[in-house]
Amino acid sequence: MEVLHNLFLLFGLLLSILATCTSQDTITVDQVIRDGDTLVSADEMYELGFFSPGSSRNRYLGIWYKNISPQTVVWVANREIPVRDSSGVFRIHTNGSLLVIASSSNTTVWSSNTSLVSPITINPVAQLLSSGNLVVRGNGTEEVSFLWQSFDYPGDTFLPGMKFGKDLVSGHDRRWIPWKSVDDPSPSEFVAFMDTDGFPQLTEEYGSTRLARFGPWNGFTFNGMPNHAPNSIIRHEFVFSDKEVFYRYALFNNSVLSRVYVNPQGDFLRLNWVNRTQEWLIYWNAYVDMCSRFRVCGPNGKCNPNKSPACSCMEGFEPQNSDEWSASEWSSGCRRRTPLDCPNGDGFRPFKNVKLPDTRHSWYNRSMTLGECTNACKRNCSCTAYANIDITRGGSGCLLWFGDLNDVRTVDESQDLYVRMARSDLTITESTSKPSSHRKRRIVIVAVSIASSLVMMILILSIVYAWSKKTRHVKKPDEPVQTIDEEYSMESQHDDDDTDLSYFSMTKISKATKDFSNDKKLGEGGFGPVYMGVLDDGKEIAVKRLSKTSRQGVNEFKNELKFIAKLQHRNLVKLLGYCNEGDENMLIYEYMPNKSLDLFIFDKTKSSTLDWSRRFHIIHGIARGILYLHQDSRFKIVHRDLKASNILLDDDMNPKISDFGLARMFRDHENEANTNRVVGTLGYISPEYAVDGTFSEKSDVFSFGVLVLEIVSGKKNSGFSHEKDSDNLLAHAWRLFEEGMALNLLSAHMRDSCVESKVLRSIHIGLLCVQHHAKDRPTMSSVVLMFDQDGVLPPPKQPAFFAQGAIPRVYDISVNEVTLTALEPR
Ligand SMILES: *[C@@H]1O[C@H](CO)[C@@H](O)[C@H](O)[C@H]1NC(C)=O
Ligand SMILES: *[C@@H]1O[C@H](CO)[C@@H](O)[C@H](O)[C@H]1NC(C)=O
Ligand SMILES: *[C@@H]1O[C@H](CO)[C@@H](O)[C@H](O)[C@H]1NC(C)=O
Ligand SMILES: *[C@@H]1O[C@H](CO)[C@@H](O)[C@H](O)[C@H]1NC(C)=O
Ligand SMILES: *[C@@H]1O[C@H](CO)[C@@H](O)[C@H](O)[C@H]1NC(C)=O
Ligand SMILES: *[C@@H]1O[C@H](CO)[C@@H](O)[C@H](O)[C@H]1NC(C)=O
Ligand SMILES: *[C@@H]1O[C@H](CO)[C@@H](O)[C@H](O)[C@H]1NC(C)=O
Ligand SMILES: *[C@@H]1O[C@H](CO)[C@@H](O)[C@H](O)[C@H]1NC(C)=O
Repeated sequence: MEVLHNLFLLFGLLLSILATCTSQDTITVDQVIRDGDTLVSADEMYELGFFSPGSSRNRYLGIWYKNISPQTVVWVANREIPVRDSSGVFRIHTNGSLLVIASSSNTTVWSSNTSLVSPITINPVAQLLSSGNLVVRGNGTEEVSFLWQSFDYPGDTFLPGMKFGKDLVSGHDRRWIPWKSVDDPSPSEFVAFMDTDGFPQLTEEYGSTRLARFGPWNGFTFNGMPNHAPNSIIRHEFVFSDKEVFYRYALFNNSVLSRVYVNPQGDFLRLNWVNRTQEWLIYWNAYVDMCSRFRVCGPNGKCNPNKSPACSCMEGFEPQNSDEWSASEWSSGCRRRTPLDCPNGDGFRPFKNVKLPDTRHSWYNRSMTLGECTNACKRNCSCTAYANIDITRGGSGCLLWFGDLNDVRTVDESQDLYVRMARSDLTITESTSKPSSHRKRRIVIVAVSIASSLVMMILILSIVYAWSKKTRHVKKPDEPVQTIDEEYSMESQHDDDDTDLSYFSMTKISKATKDFSNDKKLGEGGFGPVYMGVLDDGKEIAVKRLSKTSRQGVNEFKNELKFIAKLQHRNLVKLLGYCNEGDENMLIYEYMPNKSLDLFIFDKTKSSTLDWSRRFHIIHGIARGILYLHQDSRFKIVHRDLKASNILLDDDMNPKISDFGLARMFRDHENEANTNRVVGTLGYISPEYAVDGTFSEKSDVFSFGVLVLEIVSGKKNSGFSHEKDSDNLLAHAWRLFEEGMALNLLSAHMRDSCVESKVLRSIHIGLLCVQHHAKDRPTMSSVVLMFDQDGVLPPPKQPAFFAQGAIPRVYDISVNEVTLTALEPR
């Protein structure tokens, strides 16, 4: 017996040695995979073998992308018990179980629970499929009948084709459980699963604390899930039958690599591989803003990330405890203003553009109509709200809620929710606690939109015109520019002092800049003057001297310094050091000999030195830089003043974004903010910012779109005039695009050097970025993907500021309400 066993092993060893010469995707009971050997899927996409995660020396059996570096593991077998040396062996037992054995100690660290079908399957084989699925099947049987598959036991990664959800017959639940840390694949406390208590919804918990939930599925997408709409890359599928409920996705083009991943911090991400840069790019993050967190505003509260404070009570409700509420302690939520008087005096109030409440304990019937649904809710006095389930094909299905409505927020989706309310609350208007400025603005909006008399239009138009001329290059001295520090004081909680910045002494800087002599002055930024300097070793620097009138305290200065120092990207200008002596505060940057982009693209002679490929390189670099600010850095930063003069160029004409004087950081889950003072530069600011003072990353996307069109055309947006019509650059570009003549936008000298398809694509992307509605504009991650991939782009809608000789409606309100501060370009 012993001899036989050894012979058996020897045979397996021989076979596996043979096997490593040619890559294989299958092992039989006679073969083993030792540490160092791998199985490779038939299309060479995935590879299975032993690996060590992060800085750990432990060995785990896992599956990763074969051609991607750094190694990206998508599945791990022995998550909990590692092999502590390199003696690991992977094999398939005759009974169909997959085994990971530490052969030095002769222990089985992991085995699959393969359920054998009767009669006993002979000669089972394990195969790594092209989908990344590791399966066990009987030799010769078709793929449909797997005895076991790794897709049924997901870890932290959700690959195309995998089912996320429950088998309602067997009860098998496919959940994601992320790694403890990048060094340790053992299951953490986070878990994402399909919650089937009530209508199914996608849920994430930590321990047993609910963190977030998305759903219900409305036929297109999970209600309230950001950026989840179907597109040209991904197809979503949601199946809910008697037998199973699951979600899965497929990629239209398998050469695109995309995965959904829950990282050890519990963040829910979709990542796409960008071949050009060899990086995983965050395509979306389920936690877009503070309202993504479960029930931030308490029961019957409503979260709106665009408002400050974000929480309010749903209409018809009032704070449970108004003292707590006004102190931004929202967890106790809201109660009805007037108690219900069922069955006599109640009605239903429709809510539009809200994420439907938590569907736990809800009741549903998927074939009822909205009318039947209304009646069902009316009849049952404990029913507090109802809605259609599926909004495709005009709406169908019925969802009923009982008791408090939890986790409601505003979203850009049109799925109506009907909430039961006492008659007297049905007509109540918006809560009256709004700051008066808002009310004033609303009145102004109403007034403006009602007044359609020509006289008024002409009047406003001429005011706007005169005013825009006046302010374009004027810095208003008495309007302190909102500086970066005001938003950053919370940074003090990030106290890791790992910045390797140099300190520059005042004497050193004075010497370098010839005592801040006027001929060394490069220009004036949001903070104060900028000087060029040469250090003793010949190194050239740019010195930003914070003006003493900009109200910057030393603490804020330090905060800001810490923060900017942590931003490091090849497309951001690099901070070298700082100086604070007495009341002098200075930041020292690398010096950019080619100065700024506007000096090239808008200059007749210099623009000829920028051929198409250079320009494309610059566009692409700017996009990467902004993307980094928006989401890849540890913070979420909106620059707010992207323009050609703030794009500096190094020796090799690589673009570097500069001047964070107006930048604003968003707290973790903030998404949009509001300011009473609009800052920025005419021609680059987005309509919603100009009108409402609302800015978000989409305002930067808008400015980026303008930049793209300027770089392509060599024309300035502000001050653009065209002989034929009164278009601005955006409208002109859009018109040409619609007429199929977009190439005419290209400045003449580039027509030879350009790649037509790339130019058209750039214009197309530029137009998508300047669309009127912020929600229509792509995020920077989509923009970068659009540049990197060749998928079909959606048609752009009419851009903002589509003048057509008419009044630019967006400005009329800002004239009354907001001051526009345009900074003098350097
Ligand atoms: C298959 O054999 C292995 C090794 O002897 C054992 O650990 C496992 O429990 C068996 N599985 C089944 C389903 O019998
Ligand atoms: C490993 O286990 C097998 C059977 O379980 C046994 O025959 C063998 O002696 C063990 N080897 C070691 C080194 O313990
Ligand atoms: C195998 O099944 C047993 C009992 O059903 C369970 O305790 C164990 O966790 C399962 N192991 C795996 C790897 O799924
Ligand atoms: C698998 O089946 C094929 C025929 O169906 C047979 O030729 C082959 O020997 C089998 N392999 C094993 C390991 O049993
Ligand atoms: C898939 O993408 C690749 C590379 O982006 C492209 O070459 C190919 O044409 C695409 N295939 C389809 C069917 O779209
Ligand atoms: C990825 O990029 C490399 C060069 O960086 C290129 O050789 C390869 O063909 C690209 N692969 C795909 C799938 O586009
Ligand atoms: C759902 O509603 C339809 C139409 O009202 C009805 O025929 C069906 O029996 C209901 N199903 C359940 C499970 O209540
Ligand atoms: C109202 O609905 C709840 C939940 O489905 C149910 O328990 C209760 O019996 C219903 N009440 C009436 C009066 O139908």
